[in-house]
Amino acid sequence: MTSENQWWTESVIYQIYPRSFFDSNGDGEGDLPGITSHLEHVQSLGVDAIWLSPFYKSPNKDGGYDVADPRDVDPRFGNLDDAKAMIKRAHELGLKVLVDVVPNHFSDQHQWFKDAVASPKGSPERDRFHFHDAKADGTPPNNWISLFGGPAWTQVETADGSAQYYLHLFDSSQPDLNWENSDVSDDFEKTLRFWLDLGADGFRIDVAHGLAKENILIDHHDPQGLSDALRLDVEMSAETRGDLLSSVPFFDRDGVHPIYRKWRKLFDSYNRDVMAVAEAWVHPPVRATRYVRHDELQQVFNFDLLVAPFEAKFLYKCINDTLEMLHQVDAPATWALSNHDTPRVASRHGDQASRALALFVMALPGSCYIYNGQELGLPDADLADSDRQDPAFFRTNGVQKGRDGARVPMPWNGESATFGFSSGKPWLPIPQSWRGLSVADQEKNLESTLHLYRSALAIRREHLVGTGDITWVNRGETELLSFARGEYAIYLNAGNEVIEIPSVGKLAIGSNFKVVLADGSLILPPATSAWVAIR
Ligand code: GLC
Ligand code: CA
Repeated sequence: MTSENQWWTESVIYQIYPRSFFDSNGDGEGDLPGITSHLEHVQSLGVDAIWLSPFYKSPNKDGGYDVADPRDVDPRFGNLDDAKAMIKRAHELGLKVLVDVVPNHFSDQHQWFKDAVASPKGSPERDRFHFHDAKADGTPPNNWISLFGGPAWTQVETADGSAQYYLHLFDSSQPDLNWENSDVSDDFEKTLRFWLDLGADGFRIDVAHGLAKENILIDHHDPQGLSDALRLDVEMSAETRGDLLSSVPFFDRDGVHPIYRKWRKLFDSYNRDVMAVAEAWVHPPVRATRYVRHDELQQVFNFDLLVAPFEAKFLYKCINDTLEMLHQVDAPATWALSNHDTPRVASRHGDQASRALALFVMALPGSCYIYNGQELGLPDADLADSDRQDPAFFRTNGVQKGRDGARVPMPWNGESATFGFSSGKPWLPIPQSWRGLSVADQEKNLESTLHLYRSALAIRREHLVGTGDITWVNRGETELLSFARGEYAIYLNAGNEVIEIPSVGKLAIGSNFKVVLADGSLILPPATSAWVAIR
């Protein structure tokens, strides 16, 4: 942990997926005024900040991560005044605001890309992207595969006959930017200033590890293996994955770091505490610490818990390694159990185990991220293929189902047909089985996941934040994990049997009401966790 704590050091940050939060005008899609009108729910959880996934001008081929103008709001979400009002309301409620920046690529509808296509080969307009000639046999410049499936190159035919391929690590509508071109870096600095000047407190940096590319005209020896290794849903041995991921020519190259050093200077030139968190899927995990060196960014996501099995020994290793690693660079750890790109934690581990894990993690030093709906224990929705919108679904011809199941709108109340999310038809159907999971329903139920998060965050803020490191007691030799922090003992039973622990103190909170402290023993049923105040 950092010696000098800043607002983000132990912050709880709530991720809002704008399209699915609240629809204010009945078109079936969430929007900025909808967020503004529902921030009190977020505040009531006891979080410190919100991070909003993109709401910029976009054709929305990849949920807004295909940005056509990073300094304007897409009409589906409102306008710039709505963004200002949203930031203002958040600040009134004591919430900091992080916005997403997407520096790896633009949308093909960005003016720059249109200009590039309209300009001849070798032009300055083309140099802002990665345009290259086909190989002699007409095939793409190299054999890289898009993370969403299919080739990472698409050919454009232009009026002057200069057919070339452009690189897109994601969808073909997301051309990768050339970060060696100073127009690109200048434009992003303009974007960062734009949102800071509008009142934002910082950024989540999309694909932060992707900006620098190497060997762009060289074939990879195992493109399919590499592409599989980058997909979390493809199983392979840790060794094979490790080998393939240890040097990806387009991820985690040294060239990304000078960019963040420059950004850090820009942040520090503001007279307030600006922070940024990097989305950097890197291998081995220790490489992540390079993004949070003292002159770079403040946080880097740790995605280990998004893929860890609910087993004590794995959880111990993942948590302990993370803490030790970040200690070395004096940066706060980050913890995330769900986001808009991965199956929700309640679907991965089931309702009870996901509550247990969340409570356990909320006691750790560092910063916690909560994805909207996680506080309701929402599972992934089982969608019909005809409802799916994720480009990963289309580019793999349905082999990958994609991420839409984790992006279904929030159920605000169980009464209306649309769960109070919209007066129109929600852009993705909300499952009928979610009736009892709505915010209003959970408000009434003291045993709900919503109350668990609220109570835990209140105790965390009052008694755990600022108390420093943890001391492990049970390290996963059995299915029990436990540590001491401040005046609390924290326990997790990841097994299938009840664990009884001799314990003095007072039960502060359990992940469900079956956890009890009786006759000097803490009773932890399977898949539960608890915090005990020891003094
Ligand atoms: C990030 C985003 C994801 C998006 C991708 C391409 O991983 O979180 O949603 O599809 O970048 O921008
Ligand atoms: Ca709307």
